[in-house]
Amino acid sequence: MRPNVTRLVLLAVCFLGVRALSHVEEMKSQERLFLSSLGLSGRPRPAGSHQSRRYVPSALWKMFRRSENTQARESDPCTVSEYGVRGNIIRYVQDQGRLVSGWSSSCQACLEKQLFFNMSVLQPVELLSLAQLEIKFHWKPFRSAELLQGPRTLSVSLYKVIRATLRGANPQANRRLLLSQSIQLQPESSSITMDLTSLAESWRKPGRNYGLVLELLPLSVDANELLPFHPGNSLPLEPAFTLPLIQASLVAVSLNPHQCRSRQRRSAIHLPVTLSNVCKARRLYIDFKDVGWQDWIIAPQGYMANYCHGECPFPLSESLNGTNHAILQTLVHSLDPNGTPQPCCVPIRLSPISMLYYDNNDNVVLRHYQDMVVDECGCR
Ligand SMILES: *[C@@H]1O[C@H](CO)[C@@H](O)[C@H](O)[C@H]1NC(C)=O
Ligand SMILES: *[C@@H]1O[C@H](CO)[C@@H](O)[C@H](O)[C@H]1NC(C)=O
Repeated sequence: MRPNVTRLVLLAVCFLGVRALSHVEEMKSQERLFLSSLGLSGRPRPAGSHQSRRYVPSALWKMFRRSENTQARESDPCTVSEYGVRGNIIRYVQDQGRLVSGWSSSCQACLEKQLFFNMSVLQPVELLSLAQLEIKFHWKPFRSAELLQGPRTLSVSLYKVIRATLRGANPQANRRLLLSQSIQLQPESSSITMDLTSLAESWRKPGRNYGLVLELLPLSVDANELLPFHPGNSLPLEPAFTLPLIQASLVAVSLNPHQCRSRQRRSAIHLPVTLSNVCKARRLYIDFKDVGWQDWIIAPQGYMANYCHGECPFPLSESLNGTNHAILQTLVHSLDPNGTPQPCCVPIRLSPISMLYYDNNDNVVLRHYQDMVVDECGCR
């Protein structure tokens, strides 16, 4: 059903011409149609500040660039070869968990961080094929003396939380250990990745996502040497041991099975400029800035969308790709021009593009969208 909506928009463009794009009212309803065909209930309004939002993981950029080259276009549109799984949507779901102060009774010298990934950003129709947790540790020692002491070792434990903890109850009872390992902090960032596909799948059910807890325990350090950590305390005095900044994201690859037709396209994307008035694909570059979408679409900034325009005159030649119905309609039109209109010049072949954008939760999403470019027109 969805691709039809896109087709409808393109069809509207065909009827109304390029001028329709600047018409505010027309644009509003077309925008709604278009967004719903992209699986968005409304225009994303990313909340974060401009600066923090502009960060796009380099792996995602690489995939986007790859999807732009022709060879990748002709490959299976519903396989993400980088991860070797089925999928046409790749999201970097951002962590929304709080940093909890350590020094609790259960873990004297721990740094504790909740991890929460809102999985309701996935539409119910999507099939989750991979969820990979990435935790990055950025370590910037305050004092050079710390660097001279060589790499610091941290013990890292990751727990899944299986139910909510009531006030006063022991939180340990509601946790299950998923991973326990040690990492060495170096001035370059270090990271941990872990497959969490089945857990993330369970998080999609309403009310089932209690998130994760990450515990960091510095090894071979005196507890009283540690930086007294409190959330919001950004500039502590002369810490003996600087704790790392933690950045976590969940790479979620999912498949919308309704958007899996072949991505093959003709090699000639650039249409010649023509003056003929016969039905033909015409060049139309859509600049996302013109439609006010530059704040949520990261890339591309625009694309050659094209449109169909022109007459479907009698007799309908073969190059106009008319249906038998259209051939008969032009015949009837030539006999009775006022009673029966000419067939319409419409897209008969469309091709996809890839888009990189921010959703409403500020997650970066890479997604392939079908039927975005008019390749061929015909009389229908
Ligand atoms: C998760 O995301 C959905 C959809 O964007 C939103 O309605 C919901 O409030 C979010 N939940 C949390 C806990 O942030
Ligand atoms: C009709 O299809 C052919 C190839 O199938 C194409 O070359 C031609 O441009 C199409 N006609 C129009 C009006 O787009």
